[in-house]
Amino acid sequence: MEYILSLDQGTTSSRAVVFDHSGQAVAIAQREFAQHFPRPGWVEHDAREIWQTQLAVMQDVMAQAGIGAAQLRAMGITNQRETTVLWDRRTGEPVAPAIVWQDRRTVAYCETLRAAGHAGAIARKTGLVLDAYFSGTKLAWLLDHVPGVRARAERGELAFGTVDSWLVWQLTGGRVHATDASNASRTLLFNLKTGGWDNDLLALLNIPASVLPQVLPSCGIVAETEPYLLGQAVPIAGWAGDQQAALFGQACFEPGMAKNTYGTGCFMLMNTGDRPVASRHQLLSTVAWRGPVNAARPMAYALEGSVFMAGATVQWLRDGLQIIQSAPEVEALAASVPDTGDVFLVPAFAGLGAPDWDGQARGTLVGMTRGTRCAHIARAALEAIALQTADVFSAMAADSGLALTELRVDGGASRNDLLMQIQANVLGVSVVRSRVTETTALGAAYLAGLATGYWADAQEISTQWQEDRRFEPEWGDEQRQQMTQRWREAVARSRAWAKD
Ligand code: G3P
Repeated sequence: MEYILSLDQGTTSSRAVVFDHSGQAVAIAQREFAQHFPRPGWVEHDAREIWQTQLAVMQDVMAQAGIGAAQLRAMGITNQRETTVLWDRRTGEPVAPAIVWQDRRTVAYCETLRAAGHAGAIARKTGLVLDAYFSGTKLAWLLDHVPGVRARAERGELAFGTVDSWLVWQLTGGRVHATDASNASRTLLFNLKTGGWDNDLLALLNIPASVLPQVLPSCGIVAETEPYLLGQAVPIAGWAGDQQAALFGQACFEPGMAKNTYGTGCFMLMNTGDRPVASRHQLLSTVAWRGPVNAARPMAYALEGSVFMAGATVQWLRDGLQIIQSAPEVEALAASVPDTGDVFLVPAFAGLGAPDWDGQARGTLVGMTRGTRCAHIARAALEAIALQTADVFSAMAADSGLALTELRVDGGASRNDLLMQIQANVLGVSVVRSRVTETTALGAAYLAGLATGYWADAQEISTQWQEDRRFEPEWGDEQRQQMTQRWREAVARSRAWAKD
């Protein structure tokens, strides 16, 4: 019996999953790692800890599954996107802490670029909104602020990568410096139409091309791992950013198919086929994957609505407010009241992503009275996750011109039945939870398995997709519209708050 090992390096934990041929997870290992908040709006990770926890779970999961590397057909990799690592090619040491996708330190730089009139050209080339979310301005910050780093980069001594590149560098003992097209498309430096790094953007952000990784397909042999890591070498054969991998794991292979993943943030992606769609409603256009569904047109694109705070909002209830002991408790607490009593929580802790894109928005709680209790706030947190998703869903329907009739969902918080019911209510369409909620890891496994003949084709994968539960809307249009309008009023109050 052979298996696929999938590495899923997320924002708050490193995970590894072993999948069998039916697409079932046979073993899962997970380790959380430290989040660093050195200043308001800054979020950092220690790239070495990312690698150490990833290596540990990779070894743990093999022990748990009771298998050796000889039984692995291939390895797939998926990762938190945009998080920026810069390291020394000779020593492999990061030159500074990794700047996490949630980090807001380059908001002012983005504003300068916007004021100079660059936002339009950036959007046309990259499909992205000019925002601190993406890697480009984070990399520019490292080059400009870490002493000596720019000169070292100019001498070709440094390597830049998102977390996928960092992991592959480690897994191959520094033999391979590469990224996949889906991760590259999140950097602000990648031209969606040419499928390569864009010299004009490199010049604009003053980034030396020598630091960039080679861009490879999402499906195909990248390299073999160092033999000592798992006892023998394993081919790395598929990789993609975590949201694109989830789209793949949900078998959204046809244009118009969409999924929403409830992780740290919430990310809705819709397959737009073999060409990027320029959004008119503040969504992103991004690479879904390069290969393998359609050999004749290997680049597949997606529209994306990125919501920065979903599961992280529940973590804040747990760690910040301390009104729950563990994340799953939020469901019972929120269900203990029939509504929020007109309380709204706008979790703009890291600014607002799609469709508002306001780096200076901040978390806001409005509508409290002396009758407001923890339960109302917990319910408002769940509603906020659903309402942010609804904003993105409307933008996606408007951009695509398609009447979206259902939404496939996955990710940790999709196991929260109350949240899923609220989601169906505020969307007004069916919310369909897949049986495998580990779709991110599964997507990377599918990419690696397709590249190595473990699965024959996309058709075989589509037949594996199974529904777990369907949530139907229980609200009428009027209730939905009232709720949406009130929510938008709350969002307006959260905006343009931070001064820096
Ligand atoms: O763009 C950020 C995204 O990739 C993070 O995903 O699952 O760590 O919330 P996640």
